[in-house]
Amino acid sequence: MKTITSIKKAKGEIPLTVITAYDSLFASLFNNKTDMILVGDSLNMSFNNKPDTLSASLDIMIYHTNAVCQGAPDTFIICDMPFGTYTDEVMALKNASKVYQETTAHAVKIEGGTERAHIIQALTNNSIAVMGHIGLMPQYVRSEGGYIVRGKSEEDTLKLIEDAKAVEKAGAFAIVVEGVKSEAAKRITDAVNIPTIGIGAGNDTDGQVLVWSDMLGFFEEFQPKFVKKYLNGADLVKNAVDNYITDVQTRKFPTQEYTY
Ligand code: KIV
Repeated sequence: MKTITSIKKAKGEIPLTVITAYDSLFASLFNNKTDMILVGDSLNMSFNNKPDTLSASLDIMIYHTNAVCQGAPDTFIICDMPFGTYTDEVMALKNASKVYQETTAHAVKIEGGTERAHIIQALTNNSIAVMGHIGLMPQYVRSEGGYIVRGKSEEDTLKLIEDAKAVEKAGAFAIVVEGVKSEAAKRITDAVNIPTIGIGAGNDTDGQVLVWSDMLGFFEEFQPKFVKKYLNGADLVKNAVDNYITDVQTRKFPTQEYTY
């Protein structure tokens, strides 16, 4: 099982693998496979059909993190701190401590660059492991007016490098780099000594993360360009349920084999 130390040491080595999970059943399928599991607030969209991640509450995140910890006891688990739960140091410390006290998650994740470095510092000063998250930050969707790919200009790339360095200096053990042009993501990766975990950020980061329901093809609403579907989960489920309905309606199920 990965630790903060082995995750940091993986910088520049074999890319780290991260997948999201929201429940115990799927977490148990990922246990001992990917290096880390992220209980992302993306669950608000892919599990709850909400338009964005902003309405996920701390209690919801704690509920799902507990389920994931239950299913994946041998995997390093990160709980996303939801929107509005880390607006100042005191609030962040109170809420991140609640995550540590009420779950067995190993770390929390915080969105933000230089503007949030003091929050990350307050948590790491108090023995809470933090994964940063820079670039396209879904919790900023309303204030920025959409999901905007970052790192398209030299000026923005320099800002992202500054963000990554501030997050590293504040004590984060790794940084998610989301929705960033691959050349910029490479420069960010080269600028810091902690692993960068990319999503929609090309192939030069120190690891990759995907949302499980996207990469297994269960989420059908839309497919972002950066998502590779490793399974057509939705089609498999719908076909299986159709077969079940037909079998029941034609009395093909249950046969003797499934009868006491
Ligand atoms: O909420 C989430 O799943 C995330 C990943 C997309 C990195 O933050």
